[in-house]
Amino acid sequence: MKKASSMDETIAVPSHIAIIMDGNGRWAKRKIMPRVMGHKKGLEVLENTVKDCIDLGVKNLTVFAFSTENWKRPKIEVDFLMNLFLRSLEYKIQQLHKNNIRFRFIGKTDRFSDEIVAKIRKGEDLTKNNTLFTITVAADYGGRWDIVNAVNHLIQNGYQEITENDIQSHLALHDLPEPELYIRTGGEIRISNFLLWQMAYTEFYFTDTLWPDFNKEQLILALESFQNRERRFGRTSEQLPIHERRE
Ligand code: IPE
Ligand code: IPE
Ligand code: MG
Repeated sequence: MKKASSMDETIAVPSHIAIIMDGNGRWAKRKIMPRVMGHKKGLEVLENTVKDCIDLGVKNLTVFAFSTENWKRPKIEVDFLMNLFLRSLEYKIQQLHKNNIRFRFIGKTDRFSDEIVAKIRKGEDLTKNNTLFTITVAADYGGRWDIVNAVNHLIQNGYQEITENDIQSHLALHDLPEPELYIRTGGEIRISNFLLWQMAYTEFYFTDTLWPDFNKEQLILALESFQNRERRFGRTSEQLPIHERRE
């Protein structure tokens, strides 16, 4: 697989990247267009980002498409986003399937239309054995909801005392490695209730670039930054194998 020349090919790329695709509204506003045009362009950028991740050797991408808090937005914007989600489930899943890409969804489903929920399940089922790459879409997702949901499952299963592993194995992303890299576009330096449990040791990368302007060069910059991080997980630098030290 062809790797970008500016990256250090001797250092592993993250196997799982999580992205908050933020800045769509501001991008549109700057172009004197309705906010929703930013979401439309943002979807195209997501498609390109999937290709770029595959090209660069990343195996899993989890993107925040709609938070549990985003229902508070004006109805016209929420309706547009739901429609965009439905259309992309209709037209893009086949394309993912053809390319051996697995589609996954995480989040609550009770506030989506039956049509959307049916298409999510159909898409997950169709692509479940695909092995090249996994794209997970987080919609009506919240990190706090995810943890509470896991604990409720444990209670329903009669657990009296729980371990970290018990919670982990009941989270929505239980079957994927934790993201090694978290990217947020749009200039905000916050998590906004994304993958709270899973990001305990994730490397964070923030960029002012608005999501509709994100591209492969930007992704490579994030990967280069990741490759320069010394991931100590509580240990000292000297305890790390030589190839993991950065100083
Ligand atoms: C992110 O872009 C997409 C969603 C939250 C659905 P925004 O819509 O938050 O864009 P800004 O932050 O207002 O520019
Ligand atoms: C986070 O973006 C959620 C998504 C990108 C889907 P927001 O734009 O909703 O986050 P805040 O409100 O600025 O924290
Ligand atoms: Mg935003």
